[in-house]
Amino acid sequence: MAKLKLGVLGSGSGSNMQSIVDAIEAGELDATVEIVLADVPEAKILDRARKHGIKAQFLDCSPWKTKLADAAEDECIRILKENACDTVVLAGFMRIVKPKLLAAFPNRVLNIHPALLPAFPGVHSWTQALDYGCKVAGVTVHFVDAGTDSGPIIVQRTVPVMEDDTPETLHARIQVEEHIAYPEALRLLAAGRLRIEGRRVRIGQ
Ligand code: GRF
Repeated sequence: MAKLKLGVLGSGSGSNMQSIVDAIEAGELDATVEIVLADVPEAKILDRARKHGIKAQFLDCSPWKTKLADAAEDECIRILKENACDTVVLAGFMRIVKPKLLAAFPNRVLNIHPALLPAFPGVHSWTQALDYGCKVAGVTVHFVDAGTDSGPIIVQRTVPVMEDDTPETLHARIQVEEHIAYPEALRLLAAGRLRIEGRRVRIGQ
C-alpha cells in the first residue's frame, strides 16, 4: 500500500498529532505528516509540528467559532491538496467540517473523540460520562461523515472510571488510550485493511 500523506487539523495541544508523529518516527506507521493546520494562531500543535520539521500554519476561520466558514474551508482544501495530502486527520479540531471538505477526501477524513460513541458526542464528553455515572469510558477513532461524531467507527479503547475521578483525571486516562488508538487506526488504513460497509468498518487481514 502507498504511504499515507497526512494533513492534520487541530486547535489545541496536539498530543494526538504527537503520538502519530512518534509512531511514524519509530517506524510503526507508514505515513508522513505533510502539513499541520490550526485555527488558533498560538496553538501548541503548531509548535510541536515545527519541532519535527513539519510545515505548520494558522488557518483563519473567523468570524465563526465552531464551524468552518466557506472561504476557510476552500482555503483548507486548497492547502491540503497543494501539499499532496491524501488523508485528513482531525486531532482536537474544534470545528465541524462540512460536506465540501469531506467530498474532497472521500472516506479519508478521520476524527478522534474522547468517548465511546455513540454515547456522549460533542464537547466535554469525559465530563458527560462522569456525570452520567458510567463505570467505563473511552475513546473512539472514526471516519467523519456530515454529522457530529457520527461516522463509522474504526477503533475504540476503554478505560475504567474510578471512584475518585475528576473530569481532569478521567480525561488524562482517556488520553493515554487516544495516543494508542489514533496510530492504530491509521496503521489499519495505511495497510489497506479498512472496508466501510454501511455503518460498519470491516477490518481485513
Ligand atoms: C482529545 O481529547 C481528542 O479526543 C479531542 O480533543 C482532544 C485533543 O487533544 N477531540 P490534543 O490536542 O490532541 O492533545
